[in-house]
Amino acid sequence: MAQQEHRIVGPDHLVAGRHRLRSKLGGGGMGSVWLAHDTLLDREVAIKQITFPADLTAEAAATLRARAMREGRLAARLSHPHSIAMYDVVLEGDDPWLVMEYMPSRSLAQALNVTETLPPLQVAQIGAQVADALADAHTAGIVHRDVKPGNILIADRGPDAGTVKISDFGISRAKDESQPGQNSVITGTPAYFAPEVARGGDPTDASDVFSLGATLYTAAEGQPPFGIDEDPIALLHRVAKAEIMRPSRSGEITDVLLRMLEPDPARRPTMTQARDLLARCVTGDDSSISYVLDAPLRESDGTVPFWARRGASNRPARPARRLSSTASGLPAAPQSVPLQSVPRPSPRLPQPPAFESKKNTVAGLPVPLIVALAVAAVLIVILVVAIAL
Ligand SMILES: Nc1ncnc2c1ncn2[C@@H]1O[C@H](COP(=O)(O)OP(=O)(O)O)[C@@H](O)[C@H]1O
Ligand SMILES: [Mg+2]
Repeated sequence: MAQQEHRIVGPDHLVAGRHRLRSKLGGGGMGSVWLAHDTLLDREVAIKQITFPADLTAEAAATLRARAMREGRLAARLSHPHSIAMYDVVLEGDDPWLVMEYMPSRSLAQALNVTETLPPLQVAQIGAQVADALADAHTAGIVHRDVKPGNILIADRGPDAGTVKISDFGISRAKDESQPGQNSVITGTPAYFAPEVARGGDPTDASDVFSLGATLYTAAEGQPPFGIDEDPIALLHRVAKAEIMRPSRSGEITDVLLRMLEPDPARRPTMTQARDLLARCVTGDDSSISYVLDAPLRESDGTVPFWARRGASNRPARPARRLSSTASGLPAAPQSVPLQSVPRPSPRLPQPPAFESKKNTVAGLPVPLIVALAVAAVLIVILVVAIAL
């Protein structure tokens, strides 16, 4: 049996004669992610080496390689402000490398090592923005398949700090290209699986909605809806039974989360509906949601949330919180109730600085500056008159 050789790379390695590796950003199930310099376009990129198990046959590896290349091309179809752009997919030796937009960031998973939970309305805004990107992908025929806290990035420095983007369409696949029987080689994250996927079904738009709901639940509640289990099989069984722990810290977004986590995929909102429901939690009324979808995350004083800022130190892992009650087969939202009837809290999202300054400016200048200039002009006139007299 021909076996694959692992190509070990390190800093300064030049990928495909063009991308110079700088430092490792992290590594997940499919391979390692590096910060690299694109020497041709002279810009920073994130580049992901797709690695396969060493004991794969050459034939199986060739199949996976072809799939990785196809997935890279699919992701490159997407262009959305809340989606990490896929620039290119290159082959080096046997390994496909996905070349992506680099966003200096901290993932939602990393943020949850800094803070135990996020405020529900910040979670709602993150959710609305990610749902907007995923709805776009669904329209293009692409299911993400691995929506989870580690794949939601939040810019942690520079002028874009607080910007939210979904990454890693790396295991996504076009719906019309689905190939039954090959799911066993696709990796995912059981803690965020939809029940029907845990039972062996193919991922769909609706399972992405569930996984996003599970991700947002984790951010608001401090642990995933099915809890934490060292034993992935036991966890998978719990997911398959759709027994989520009743949310207790999600406040005004509880109802939307329960709709997204509806066990029956047919009764979940679509991704577009989920986006609107989440955004309406933030606006609190029928006003335009475009501001919620566009603005970077901010605290009420206009600063970037501390948990998203570079330099916010990681705390030691906290003990898992135990929730006493479980909710088995959560009650479905009655079909007759329109989705828009979710009770709306009063708006509490801080307005972005640009929005605030628009309200408080005259001819593009801040009001206090205008007043100071006017006072100075009056003083000068008085002074001139006094001198003339
Ligand atoms: N485009 C990117 N820009 C900046 N950092 C990234 C990018 N993609 C991934 N990362 C970082 O690399 C880490 C590892 O990514 P990945 O291999 O996809 O694993 P996982 O998604 O399981 O965390 C992520 O948690 C993130 O912090
Ligand atoms: Mg990832």
